[in-house]
Amino acid sequence: MRPEAPQPRHPGHPDPLSPGETVVLTDRKQRRYLISLTEGGQFSYHGGTVAHDDLLGQPEGTRVRASKGARLLALRPTAADWTLKAPRGAQVVYPKDQAMIVNLADIAPGCEVVEAGAGSGALTTALLRAVRPGGRVISFERREDFADVARRNVAARLGDVGDAWELVVDDAGDHLAERACDRVVLDLLEPWELVGAAATALRAGGVLCAYTPTVTQVTRLREALVAAGGWARAETVETLQRGWHVDGLAVRPDHRMVAHTAFLNVARRVPDADDAAGAADPPDATHGGEHAGGEPGEPAPPAEGD
Ligand SMILES: C[S@@+](CC[C@H](N)C(=O)[O-])C[C@H]1O[C@@H](n2cnc3c(N)ncnc32)[C@H](O)[C@@H]1O
Repeated sequence: MRPEAPQPRHPGHPDPLSPGETVVLTDRKQRRYLISLTEGGQFSYHGGTVAHDDLLGQPEGTRVRASKGARLLALRPTAADWTLKAPRGAQVVYPKDQAMIVNLADIAPGCEVVEAGAGSGALTTALLRAVRPGGRVISFERREDFADVARRNVAARLGDVGDAWELVVDDAGDHLAERACDRVVLDLLEPWELVGAAATALRAGGVLCAYTPTVTQVTRLREALVAAGGWARAETVETLQRGWHVDGLAVRPDHRMVAHTAFLNVARRVPDADDAAGAADPPDATHGGEHAGGEPGEPAPPAEGD
């Protein structure tokens, strides 16, 4: 049974803050705290305490004073706030990668997506936001404790999503092949072990997207796609997110950035490997398989003398 959750209000909702809602408090140093508002409740942190009653009934964007004097800004959380601040069991997929996965795998309203593993439910939430209305996400998670975290996070973030989400607490390898779908999204240690099941599940033209933190995982996955056949347009990309410090004349890149998180590997399911122009073929030995320019997925321009 899904946990009871009020239907969350999106940032910018016209109603004042009310009990049961989650807000993100931001301090002067941009530190963020996710809290669930209750009548008579208190939020405690190193700056003292904040009475929830000081926020209830107030408009979004209200500033409150903590007991030691600091001021905190209260807003309804964005998807990125939720991802970074919600409770987690397993490591989550960061907002920069969630956005790219939705885009690269072309996850849109009406899509049927199978995901493994669900972990803390961060990526699940992004997938659910993308497939509705009309689509579904089936998530596999083999650990009951992580599945609980995912359930709670999805309910807190999206409320009751009805039939749009099914969470199966089991090994994806045992069931994935039975689930006909348009997209398969993998975030687990050994995605190459699920290539065969994903090929069976995916309809022709469907997309496989695997999130792999290490180079060795990329290599094994890409080799498995080539060996299996039936895949085309395989590509591997990564996204680096660099924030900027903007303060008067001091405008420069931040000293720290969200650099490496993982590689995103995408491939299209095709009926017959032999028909797949530019399929998941081994890299071109002449060019080392590198793109010499253009967009990811575009063939490299011919080298001089070709
Ligand atoms: C890194 S976490 C996923 C995090 C998730 N994408 C998120 O954003 O919150 C990987 C998860 O895959 C699960 N897992 C690993 N192998 C699995 C399998 N064969 N079937 C189902 N779940 C699996 C693990 O238990 C773990 O929770």
